Amino acid sequence: MSQPQPSLEAPQTEPLFNPLSPEVIANPYPHYHRLRTLDPVHRSPLGVFVASRHADVSFVLRDKRFGKDFVGRMTRRFGPQVLDEPVYRSMSHWMLQMDPPDHTRLRGLVVKAFTARRVEDMRPRIQEIVDRTLDRIESRGQMDLIADFALRLPVTVICDMLGIPEEDHEMIFSGARGGGRLLDPVPLSRAEIDQANADNLATAAYFHSLFELRRRQPGDDLTTQLVQAEEEGHKLTNEELTGNIILLFGAGHETTVNLIGNGLLALYRNPDQLRLLKENPTLITNAIEELLRYDSSVQLTGRTALEDVSVGGVDVAKGESVLCLLGAANRDPVVYPNPDRLDITRPNIRPMSFGGGIHFCLGAQLARIEGEIAIATLLRRLPNLKLDNVEHPDWRPTFVLRGLNGLPARW
Ligand code: HEM
Repeated sequence: MSQPQPSLEAPQTEPLFNPLSPEVIANPYPHYHRLRTLDPVHRSPLGVFVASRHADVSFVLRDKRFGKDFVGRMTRRFGPQVLDEPVYRSMSHWMLQMDPPDHTRLRGLVVKAFTARRVEDMRPRIQEIVDRTLDRIESRGQMDLIADFALRLPVTVICDMLGIPEEDHEMIFSGARGGGRLLDPVPLSRAEIDQANADNLATAAYFHSLFELRRRQPGDDLTTQLVQAEEEGHKLTNEELTGNIILLFGAGHETTVNLIGNGLLALYRNPDQLRLLKENPTLITNAIEELLRYDSSVQLTGRTALEDVSVGGVDVAKGESVLCLLGAANRDPVVYPNPDRLDITRPNIRPMSFGGGIHFCLGAQLARIEGEIAIATLLRRLPNLKLDNVEHPDWRPTFVLRGLNGLPARW
């Protein structure tokens, strides 16, 4: 579908990379094309480089001269006291923010739960959750596709995997969508940090009580597994236990909710592709790859240079950070001909949406299967489903996590 394109020749009054501007949030892709054409490894006024070409993004994510250096990066930018903030202290223990060998140790403790085989075995349970959700709302004739449908699947799945008791699920659904600003490259205000601290402490308190429960009543779940590893004394610390359970809990839902939401919006904005998928349901596996590429629910991740490195001909000094625009790499015309076209039959799609290198998303296969079952089942069971507003949907005001506040639909 055609979108207004900013002129490449027009004098620049706007910064080339302005992630939280409403125009970028509404449709970042013309802005990415401009950035990639005019200054592909761009030094932003935010004090970081911004990479938008597929080759540069892929290089930065995989090259060992880049790492996370979370503590170094945060203290250089905000001073050493930043790690007294509970939320940043907690994040400093996430495997997502760690470098080897700590990253290797923590990822190794949970990786088995996410293998393709283990996730494949979860298909019947995923199908059951989707069917039960639709059974509950089918007779209503209308719903919010995000709150009533997309949210429930990934949240229930990660609750299952973490051994969160069923009676807590409703409480978790209602608080499931905060925190997105924390990952954005624009500093948080004091009020936002205070809110993030409060949310982090409340979540940590909930998980501490879950750890007690799983010590008394071990289960076949990740929390029990990590609590037992912590008790052995040398595999992970108490703060690492709490931090990584919080990471798994959060990473396991907002991202997949938005794969389902952004994916459905993209299909309804491209009725020829929607029709093609309805007529050929076996296209769903490739369609999910294309939906991941076309409008990724994670738009960006970053790395810091651990030594001086040249990226696409630009010198990046040790200690400087590079933001990798995954959403821009996914629309790079060098890799994907006609990149702004949604084509669920496109061959050789390898979306950058799950990152690359040692931090490649642990939940990638799980997210793909959840997306596949959710979208295929919805289209099959509600064939007359219509979206109320495909032209001006209500985007959440966050950049890294790209998704909708709501997506009203009826049938
Ligand atoms: C469409 C859904 C998802 C997307 C687009 C996504 C995206 C990503 C990306 C881009 C990264 C790497 C970040 C980096 O390199 O800095 C990542 C890492 C991670 N993801 Fe996902 N994710 C999704 C779903 C999930 C799910 C369902 C889970 C778990 C249940 C999960 C758990 C994780 C974890 C634990 C990491 C950190 C891995 C590491 O540092 O080694 N993600 N994800």
